Amino acid sequence: MNSAVQTTTIPTTNNAQAPDMGELTPYQTGPALTQAMLTQQGIALEWQDGQQTTLPLLWLRDHCACPACRHPQTRERLYLPLEAISEPPTVALLDGHLHLNWQDGHVSTFHSGWLYQRRPEATLASAVPNAKPWIDNFAPERINHSDFLTPQGEKAWLTAMLRDGLALITDGPLVEEEVSRLAERIGPLRATNFGARFDVRSKPNPNNAAYTAVGLPLHVDLPNWQQPPDIQLLYCLQNEASGGESLFADGARVVEALRQQDPKALAILSETPIDFRFQDESHDISMRAPVVTLDSAGNLVEMRLNNWIRDALHLPVEQMDAWYSAYALLWKLFHSEAHQLEFTLHPGQMIAFDNRRVLHGRREFDPNSGARHLQGTYLDRDMLASRLRVLARNV
Ligand code: OGA
Ligand code: ZN
Ligand code: ZN
Repeated sequence: MNSAVQTTTIPTTNNAQAPDMGELTPYQTGPALTQAMLTQQGIALEWQDGQQTTLPLLWLRDHCACPACRHPQTRERLYLPLEAISEPPTVALLDGHLHLNWQDGHVSTFHSGWLYQRRPEATLASAVPNAKPWIDNFAPERINHSDFLTPQGEKAWLTAMLRDGLALITDGPLVEEEVSRLAERIGPLRATNFGARFDVRSKPNPNNAAYTAVGLPLHVDLPNWQQPPDIQLLYCLQNEASGGESLFADGARVVEALRQQDPKALAILSETPIDFRFQDESHDISMRAPVVTLDSAGNLVEMRLNNWIRDALHLPVEQMDAWYSAYALLWKLFHSEAHQLEFTLHPGQMIAFDNRRVLHGRREFDPNSGARHLQGTYLDRDMLASRLRVLARNV
């Protein structure tokens, strides 16, 4: 392919319709293109603000948003990019947008703002925050129940959940199933062997430690599942019993503390799969995985710490003592005052947390001193991120 002359058309009219890229996230506000030029690498572009990039011809062909290349209703890709582009298109700018006429007669138009967002040199903007480990004296975001029912309040809750892994809703009504109604605003409830919605109170024939009055040390729910639930919501309807305070600690922060204190212990816990298992009359659900899963950069992917769901430790004998001492150190760090958040959930409050990141627990309570009743459910993290992106379309 030859370097051809630069093909630029200065905006002359506002009549031409700006290209529709079939995208619901806004892209229309970016700067106009001022130059488009065929080069050896593809098409070199320059925008009004001086930003430049070069996009390969096949990339451009692949991203054509015409109804033949991208389904006009589903917005999904129809074009299949299996062949290199042998002949370059003719290139034009119309009202600052890119127009390509391919040699086979196909026409592609690209909105300048859409291309600007997707230039390879830029980081793709996202409405979804990264997880941020708790700092000293971390205090959870508190959102009023009535505010949560507005787009701004819901956005604040979603942002806090994805950033901090924990957020509190206050001043909610004392009605059964409110937890399900709140959860369903975000996404479908994630059902487990305990149902789509569960009641946490002391029960006559408990099949789970949570359904007794005993204290629950910090834990992850359902680490015995291949895919433990992401987000847990616990709505307090009654809490008159003495004791029963809620406990939380951030896995992202504690894993960092362990890395500082004893990197070898962290390596053992993140590289040694162990067994988790739940069994009752109708279920036997088990999973083998490490207590800590890290990504290739060493960031926490998920925690699986739950001492009563842990199955028999099946390891080579010479690894057992080292595993137990690493486990004890992690346990101590989680339960240290510096890392543990403790407060009483009041009726009408809902605490929600990222079950695979933030560990939760409760102090023992005395069921004879008063009633304690929480209703809980789970959600997928994908649905929180999705809601946030949808809400961010309107800013
Ligand atoms: C649970 C749980 C905490 C509580 O149901 O999984 O940990 O405060 N409950 O009862
Ligand atoms: Zn097309
Ligand atoms: Zn739990």
